[in-house]
Amino acid sequence: MSNNFGIYIHIPFCVKKCSYCDFISFSNRDNLIEKYIEALKNEIERFDFSKYIVTTIYIGGGTPSYLNAKYIIEILTLLRNKLVNNKITWKDLEITIEMNPGTVSKEKLKNYKMLGINRLSIGLQSTSNRLLKEIGRIHTYKDFLDTYNIAKEVGFDNINVDLMIALPNQSIKDIKESLEKIIFLNPNHISVYSLIVEEETLISKWLTEGKVTLPSDEEERRMYWYVKNFLELSRI
Ligand SMILES: C[S@@+](CC[C@H](N)C(=O)[O-])C[C@H]1O[C@@H](n2cnc3c(N)ncnc32)[C@H](O)[C@@H]1O
Ligand code: SF4
Repeated sequence: MSNNFGIYIHIPFCVKKCSYCDFISFSNRDNLIEKYIEALKNEIERFDFSKYIVTTIYIGGGTPSYLNAKYIIEILTLLRNKLVNNKITWKDLEITIEMNPGTVSKEKLKNYKMLGINRLSIGLQSTSNRLLKEIGRIHTYKDFLDTYNIAKEVGFDNINVDLMIALPNQSIKDIKESLEKIIFLNPNHISVYSLIVEEETLISKWLTEGKVTLPSDEEERRMYWYVKNFLELSRI
């Protein structure tokens, strides 16, 4: 049996909760950040990594890039020390951090690079500012572009971009526009998620109150096949 091991570190803090999201993440709880990081470091300190071959580290959220870089430095420095005897050297690990446009600076990205982070996952969802506003994102498409371009400038060459389909008021035309614009940027990976309406999210409440409508199941499937064909053809 393989003892390959991926480490996932969860950062449950966001600037603002998006209307569709039920991931464990909180806004307006910044007073807990310090305590949370201390608890996380204690857990890492106590964990016995010696039985495992660590192959990847993924810092997700929430919005890890919302944190002051000093916390990411503390966590990764501790992990690096704990993994000195790991069969895969630190520089050969895949180390990813999730980022939200509007929470990243060149300084933070330089720190990430210096720490050995070699993969970025940027949540965009759509290139339409109208849709971004409707789903409660804190950023515009331009903010995403700035983040993406700074990341390239700092030297990141492994970038994933998250997009979403089947959002309220989203058309195939909106999806086409998002795909065209993102493919043009040539990221290494594009993840496309179909909206899941989770209980107790704002979107679920709006649906119950009749304030928004979703694409029908047939439309959602059309969007899915559209994305699949579009991405497959763009690889040729
Ligand atoms: C864990 S989230 C964190 C990423 C980062 N905080 C951000 O939003 O930019 C990762 C991705 O999951 C997707 N996602 C979150 N909630 C979803 C939902 N209810 N239905 C479908 N996709 C969802 C979004 O595309 C999001 O970028
Ligand atoms: S989608 Fe990302 S930024 Fe929005 S609330 Fe969820 S974790 Fe936070």
